[in-house]
Amino acid sequence: MITQRSYAVEPWTVRETSLSLDVLAQSESVFALSNGHVGWRGNLDEGEPHGLPGSYLNGVHEVHPLPYAEAGYGYPESGQTVINVTNGKVLRLLVDDEPFDLRYGRLVSHERTLDLRRGTLTRVCEWTSPAGSTVRVRSTRLVSLTQRAVAAVSYEVEPVGATARVVIQSELVANESLPGSNGDPRTAVTLKSPLEPEEDFASGSRLRLVHRTRNSGLRVAVAADHVVTGPEGTTTDRESNEDVARLTVTSVLEPGQTLRVEKFVAHGWSGTRSRPAMSDQVDAALAAARHSGWEGLLQDQRDFLDDFWARADVEVDGDEEIQQAVRFALFHVLQAGARAEQRAIPAKGLTGSGYDGHAFWDTETFVLPLLTYTSPDAVAEALRWRQNTLPAARERAAQLGLRGAAFPWRTIAGSEGSAYWPAGTAAFHVNADIADAVVRYVDATGDTDFERETGVELLVETARLWRSLGHHDPHGVFHIDGVTGPDEYSAVADDNTYTNLMARANLLAAAEVVARHPKQAALLGVDDEESASWREAAAAVHIPYNRELGVHEQHAGFTRYQRWDFDNTGPEQYPLLLNFPYFDLYRKQVVKQADLVLAMYTCPDHFDEEHIARNFAYYEPLTVRDSSLSACCQAVIAAQAGHLQLAYDYTTEAALMDLQDLEHNTRDGLHIASLAGTWMALVAGFGGLRRDADGLRFAPRLPERFSRLAFSLQLLGRRLRVEITQEKASYTLLSGQPLRIRHHGEVLTVGSDGPAVRTVPVPAVRPAPEQPRHRRPNVR
Ligand code: BGC
Repeated sequence: MITQRSYAVEPWTVRETSLSLDVLAQSESVFALSNGHVGWRGNLDEGEPHGLPGSYLNGVHEVHPLPYAEAGYGYPESGQTVINVTNGKVLRLLVDDEPFDLRYGRLVSHERTLDLRRGTLTRVCEWTSPAGSTVRVRSTRLVSLTQRAVAAVSYEVEPVGATARVVIQSELVANESLPGSNGDPRTAVTLKSPLEPEEDFASGSRLRLVHRTRNSGLRVAVAADHVVTGPEGTTTDRESNEDVARLTVTSVLEPGQTLRVEKFVAHGWSGTRSRPAMSDQVDAALAAARHSGWEGLLQDQRDFLDDFWARADVEVDGDEEIQQAVRFALFHVLQAGARAEQRAIPAKGLTGSGYDGHAFWDTETFVLPLLTYTSPDAVAEALRWRQNTLPAARERAAQLGLRGAAFPWRTIAGSEGSAYWPAGTAAFHVNADIADAVVRYVDATGDTDFERETGVELLVETARLWRSLGHHDPHGVFHIDGVTGPDEYSAVADDNTYTNLMARANLLAAAEVVARHPKQAALLGVDDEESASWREAAAAVHIPYNRELGVHEQHAGFTRYQRWDFDNTGPEQYPLLLNFPYFDLYRKQVVKQADLVLAMYTCPDHFDEEHIARNFAYYEPLTVRDSSLSACCQAVIAAQAGHLQLAYDYTTEAALMDLQDLEHNTRDGLHIASLAGTWMALVAGFGGLRRDADGLRFAPRLPERFSRLAFSLQLLGRRLRVEITQEKASYTLLSGQPLRIRHHGEVLTVGSDGPAVRTVPVPAVRPAPEQPRHRRPNVR
């Protein structure tokens, strides 16, 4: 775990000024660069030492049999796991015949900087070899946001004090050996040598390796080209074998002389294209990268990010750490989704192999809201990926005896990858989460082409699922029994409130969309009777409520269960899933992560302010936050209920999840949903953003610590800027037609005649809710 503050608190950079080998793996995640298609962990240029080497191509995975002690009908038989593809970042260095390896000799100085505006990772260090030669190394790398297949490194060496013979080996390395799994179910299956060689090539300054995954049959090609600048006498050599292609650059450098290698790396993969086609593809991508040149790539990266920040930046005055953390979060969420282009956005993005590289509901519920209002094109692409996986989802529904589509709980390629069905297949809410993301995107963009081509099909097939999964009881009430909601410490329960409310919205949205697109509906075989059955089910959905307590039940009967014995659970026994049997967790009142509390955020129309406060006070002492997805949801509702300091503490937890490794597993990759949750906590929590049938509403209120919070949203071709201080909120239309919004219930029209400014009302005073023993959020 990162115990002290490891990174300087600066507004636009994340900078490390010393190297600590025992947290190398964590920093590799923090310093990961990605564009959603290619992901490079922040491994040191020389390849070693490393925590977890990682180079990923979104979608490239291997399949493996899922073992079961007891077989059962409908259990997925094959699992998918992300694999480490050919590593193009390696630049090994020899100084006077000694390998530059930070475990030996003396590291005189070290600094790595992730620059959130330039989109680069820069490293500057000075090292003295065991034999006493000193060199200064400066490297900068980027994974291009504008050229999707391309990453590049500029690597410079300079001797200090005396002449040095320097050798740089720029490599492509396939089948790197990886550290084994640590037994935590949340890490990845490690597969040995998953890549079979097909082609290796080295000529001039160019290198190329083509491989194929053994079982999933995916072809992976990685190529590199170089520009070498050094003093006279600098020589180059190249060679390749099955798993390594190498350009060796040798030079004798006087003090003041520099050897510089610019390395351009292109990546491609395909399940169908031939080997020659893949070689050509990466060569072409390299040609484009060379055409831009290093400076050109840097400039394009900067321009892309300037544009992003102009739309997406969140400003926080009064708390520099949160200011940095939210930008770090926005940057990594952008990296995860920017160029994924009809591939999944995994829970870890492309920053590590945790959760086997799978995507979950995290994407639609946590990541896509942020992207919807800042980078909507990425949302359309992510949802098109879901549409592309409909064949597998339909097949899964049929296997389960259901209609429509049953999207997987966790997957890379579209088929269900969860071997643990109570917290997998049974978590059907993922289907409604996808539907919700479709509606949110269409409401925010008015993209009717997308609605017609993608939205209708996703909404219809998920509505069909709900209609067949639920049933009307003899009184006509619609129940959805035997499902798992977001809280994974309750499973296979009846009428989970979150699921039922989300399913209701899904059913209604499907009925509305088929009315708007009758042609598409007919192609999908929807008739009036079917859409009427969705409306009927939606109108009759059961929402369990405990009258005695005056609170909504997380699922039917939940409030009757025995409470978990929090007083006798030690701090070291968290997360509970690693220390107690699921059997016991399932039959007690203990909540892993916001569930009913999340429902109050995603389905705001169903709950009045009194219920929000009461429900929150009821569930708060039961919620242990064993998932990083929880704190941000609790922040949102705490803010709504007027517990602003608590909301702030939860926001801090979400925001610092990875910068401080709060869950001790940042090494496996970043918690992309929690990072996106930082935006959610600020914008939906302190900004009070909600959407309902009447559009967007805000109910801003700042915690004591903040003197100002400002953010922008893209909405229906307009840009709205919201600026909040302790006393006032102002809404400014930066571009587009006038817009109707609500501020604490008051309807406002924001137009070109200047900002609408309103006062921020004081919240109702309520007793502070309790948390389970040892699970109070840290107070800063
Ligand atoms: C959470 C799930 C989440 C998954 C991946 C689990 O710990 O309970 O809700 O989808 O992590 O982030």
